[in-house]
Amino acid sequence: MESSRRATARFKFFILILFLSASLREFGSSAQLLPDEEVEALGLIASKLQYTGWSTVAADSCSTGRGLNQTITANDRGLIRFGSNVTCNCNSTVCHISIIQLKGLNLTGVLPEEFANLTFLRELDLTRNYINGTIPASFGRLRLSILSLLGNRLSGPIPEEIGDISTLEELILEDNLLTGPLPRNLGRLPRLRRFLVSANNFTGTIPTSFGNLTNMEDFRIDGSTLSGRIPDFIGNWTRLDRL
Ligand SMILES: *[C@@H]1O[C@H](CO)[C@@H](O)[C@H](O)[C@H]1NC(C)=O
Ligand SMILES: *[C@@H]1O[C@H](CO)[C@@H](O)[C@H](O)[C@H]1NC(C)=O
Ligand SMILES: *[C@@H]1O[C@H](CO)[C@@H](O)[C@H](O)[C@H]1NC(C)=O
Ligand SMILES: *[C@@H]1O[C@H](CO)[C@@H](O)[C@H](O)[C@H]1NC(C)=O
Ligand SMILES: *[C@@H]1O[C@H](CO)[C@@H](O)[C@H](O)[C@H]1NC(C)=O
Ligand SMILES: *[C@@H]1O[C@H](CO)[C@@H](O)[C@H](O)[C@H]1NC(C)=O
Ligand SMILES: *[C@@H]1O[C@H](CO)[C@@H](O)[C@H](O)[C@H]1NC(C)=O
Ligand SMILES: *[C@@H]1O[C@H](CO)[C@@H](O)[C@H](O)[C@H]1NC(C)=O
Ligand SMILES: *[C@@H]1O[C@H](CO)[C@@H](O)[C@H](O)[C@H]1NC(C)=O
Repeated sequence: MESSRRATARFKFFILILFLSASLREFGSSAQLLPDEEVEALGLIASKLQYTGWSTVAADSCSTGRGLNQTITANDRGLIRFGSNVTCNCNSTVCHISIIQLKGLNLTGVLPEEFANLTFLRELDLTRNYINGTIPASFGRLRLSILSLLGNRLSGPIPEEIGDISTLEELILEDNLLTGPLPRNLGRLPRLRRFLVSANNFTGTIPTSFGNLTNMEDFRIDGSTLSGRIPDFIGNWTRLDRL
């Protein structure tokens, strides 16, 4: 009896503390914050790629702009040639990182697995750097629409798990040192529109499962040692614009 009353009192105290800390946090700042996991992942990514642009990333970086905003140099078509473009997606209470573009920054090091911890990431573009290592299988957890690793030094195969990113519309891996066969599993990407993997070292044939990629608009696989026939099913890709 006594101990249960004490437990109840302790519980009430606990609730009061929770309430106080929640309202203090509200009071302390009306800004929406990034979750700790995303702040920590960004810090680890920056240190692994020796990228100084995110050195001051904090929970409030989305609202203050500190730590994530960088100068961008665009080309004449308005596309970024050099620079970092990070976009947050915020509702009234919380922010998440939704777009990361780090282009032409001469980044080195191994492709950080921690990108997979940014679970709200929609676009990851690391075009034209010197990043090496392999494409982590854990990227298969992300709900990306665009994955571009164009112009790096990535090796090894495309992990089967990339075929689990059912939201994927653009897979751009041109100009790397990738090897192995094109995974069958990629035929399970119903929204895939752009598949650009030229200038690698892939082997084997085009999987028959690719017959299901009927939203394909731009398909580039030159510059590897693929073999076999040009598949008939390409005739069923009625949206194809570039082959
Ligand atoms: C990233 O995700 C992995 C696997 O879910 C987890 O073990 C790790 O603790 C996470 N890292 C961070 C920084 O949250
Ligand atoms: C970058 O700065 C703009 C305006 O200063 C701000 O609206 C935006 O939220 C900032 N973005 C990030 C990711 O901090
Ligand atoms: C940043 O990326 C988003 C998404 O691709 C794009 O809409 C925006 O124009 C980019 N910002 C700059 C300055 O290029
Ligand atoms: C904000 O988004 C989070 C998911 O990131 C969700 O859990 C929460 O309910 C949303 N809050 C509002 C007010 O929409
Ligand atoms: C990358 O390296 C090249 C060659 O050293 C240099 O010209 C260029 O300015 C560097 N780019 C950046 C963004 O540091
Ligand atoms: C990746 O590049 C770094 C230098 O940027 C090098 O030290 C490391 O050995 C390379 N790793 C692999 C697997 O090639
Ligand atoms: C590509 O594969 C061929 C044949 O297996 C090999 O001779 C060549 O060195 C490879 N090139 C690269 C860049 O890995
Ligand atoms: C295409 O998708 C359908 C339905 O998911 C499946 O039954 C079929 O086996 C797939 N075709 C190929 C060639 O993988
Ligand atoms: C093309 O699509 C039609 C209709 O879905 C299907 O019957 C046929 O088998 C497909 N052709 C090839 C070569 O996949």
